[in-house]
This record gives sequence, structure tokens and C-alpha cells, in this order.
Amino acid sequence: MNTKSKILELLENNRGYSLSGEEIARQLAISRNAVWKAIKALEKDGYCIQAVTNKGYSLSIDNDILSVEGMLPYLSSPNCAKKIFVYKELESTNKTAKEMAMNGHKHGTVIIADSQTAGRGRYGRSFYSPPKSGLYMSFIFQFPALHVQKATLITTSVAVTICQAIQDVCGKEPKIKWINDILLEDKKVGGILTEAVTDFESGNIEWIVVGIGININTSKDSFPRELNPIAASIYSGEIDGATRNRLAAEFINRLLVFDIWQNDKEIYAEYKKRLSMLNERITVIAPNETYDALAMDVNLDGHLIVKKDDGKTVALSSGEISIKKSLNRQ
Ligand code: BTN
Repeated sequence: MNTKSKILELLENNRGYSLSGEEIARQLAISRNAVWKAIKALEKDGYCIQAVTNKGYSLSIDNDILSVEGMLPYLSSPNCAKKIFVYKELESTNKTAKEMAMNGHKHGTVIIADSQTAGRGRYGRSFYSPPKSGLYMSFIFQFPALHVQKATLITTSVAVTICQAIQDVCGKEPKIKWINDILLEDKKVGGILTEAVTDFESGNIEWIVVGIGININTSKDSFPRELNPIAASIYSGEIDGATRNRLAAEFINRLLVFDIWQNDKEIYAEYKKRLSMLNERITVIAPNETYDALAMDVNLDGHLIVKKDDGKTVALSSGEISIKKSLNRQ
């Protein structure tokens, strides 16, 4: 860890409180001049550091810059910090994660960006990823002998885990729109994009990248026009500066130990509890047909069980199907 990182870690640990240059220098066994230089470098990076005569330096509580040092106070295992990579801007954290997985980065590697220039969603859609207002992160996972057919269950289980983390950190109760949209008050505040590389012979997943995008306080007016009616953010205004680092850390704490719901029935129960549209009439938009149906259940394979109007029951797999609430309720 270089001097700048060490000072940032100290300031993050004492957010809002002043630390004298002398105290910092003593703790890190460096000169006062080295402290001053590092503080200037942090300011250049955009950190708002107050310097008060006779008191010292303090990191403003409004500071909202994503960093490993900012996450450290909230990580359950500081060891995992070594595998967290934070960038100011990437094309797509999933893209970088896939490249890193191919270059040998292992289970538990986390890639985070403050903004994405080509954030990707499911079905080749784009994911709006402006700076300073969202959380865009991808995890590299390697599960022993996990068959590709179970990949959906990773997505559904991750959806539950991130809802729980949002609820704990932000005090809001997100719902899930099958299969992996995160909703608040019926609007999408986030989504998950899972991409896997499988072993051709065994059909087992070699590694999997799970990308999570959450709108934290993206201003309503800034969403592209087509997203405006359906997208929202967790918060509508200014947020406490530590929120994004804290939420990122909470996702990491939980996702580095999570299990798919086949091994953990509580996750399955909670997925169903959080599922929006259950017992409601929905419109199913499949590649070859669009029809209205009743959303009845989700099975252990993550399929949505719907009852068509002719009485037939169908198990939908995520594929190319999207669902929305029916307008003509019966
Ligand atoms: C969806 O809603 O269709 C899924 C959205 C997933 C977006 C996240 S943001 C971080 C990661 N990197 C990407 O390019 N996409 C995912």
C-alpha cells in the first residue's frame, strides 16, 4: 500500500474527524512533508479534505468517491480488499471482469467502476451508468462442478442477497421482478447480468461473472427518455458520502459467502417473498407469441410458473421472455 492509500485509509476510518499532520506522520512513520504531499495528491483526485489550523486534516462526510480504502471500514474480512479493483471509468465492469478471469484472476475478484461508457444489460440492452450516482460492479466466481443449467440460480440467489444488503444499508425494501430486476415502488433501480464460460465436455461452468448495476441517486431527469417511466434510484436526493462504499462493501461481504438456493432453502423462500407480480395477471412477451397469464409461482429451477387463459400451466425459463403487468386486469 502506498502512502496516499494509507492516509486515505486513516482519513476514511475517521471520516468527519480531524487528524493532525503530526499524528498521521507518527502513525505511518513518515515525514510531515510526505503527509502534506499525499494530502495534495488526494485533493487532486477529487477528495474534499478540510485542513483546519491546530486541528489537522479531515475527510468531508460528503465525500462520495468509491475506493477500496473507503470500503475497508465496512468489509467483514479486510483480506478480500486485495481482490477489489476500483476504476473511475470502464467500458463495462463485466467486460473487464471477463478479461481478468481469462487472465487467471480467481474466485472473489471484484471489479467496480464509478461510471461505465458501455454498461451492458440483458438481451444486449445497454445499462445507463453515469458517474457519482450509481454502483456498477462485477464479481468473478468459480464454483466447483456447477452445471451451466444452474447459472440461473446464481442470478436469482444474487438478487435476494443484494436486496437484503440494500435493505440493511438503505432501509428500503426492494422487490424482485422475475428474473433479476431490482424494484422499488414498482420501478427498476437495478439489474444483474450473469455471464459464464463453460467447459464444453462436462457442461460445468469454469467461471462466471455476475454484474450488478444499482442506481443509487441518479437524478430522475438524467435518465434517457425511454427509461424515465420505468427506472428510478434508491434515493432521490443527496446521500451520505459513505453510502456507495458501504453498499459495495455489504454486497462483497455477502456475495463472497453466498450459496445458490438449491443448497439454501431460505434464499428460495425469500426470493418468492420478494417477487413482485406473484398472483397477478401478467403479459408474457416470448419470441413467437405474446399472451396474458396468471403468475403463480417460481419453481426450484428458477422457472416462472404461469397459468394461461386456456387453463394450461407453463414453466417459463428466463431466455428471451420478458413480462409486464397486464393492463386488462380480470
Ligand atoms: C439488466 O438490467 O438487464 C442487467 C443490468 C446489469 C448492469 C451491470 S452494471 C455492472 C455490470 N457491467 C455491465 O456492463 N453490466 C453489469
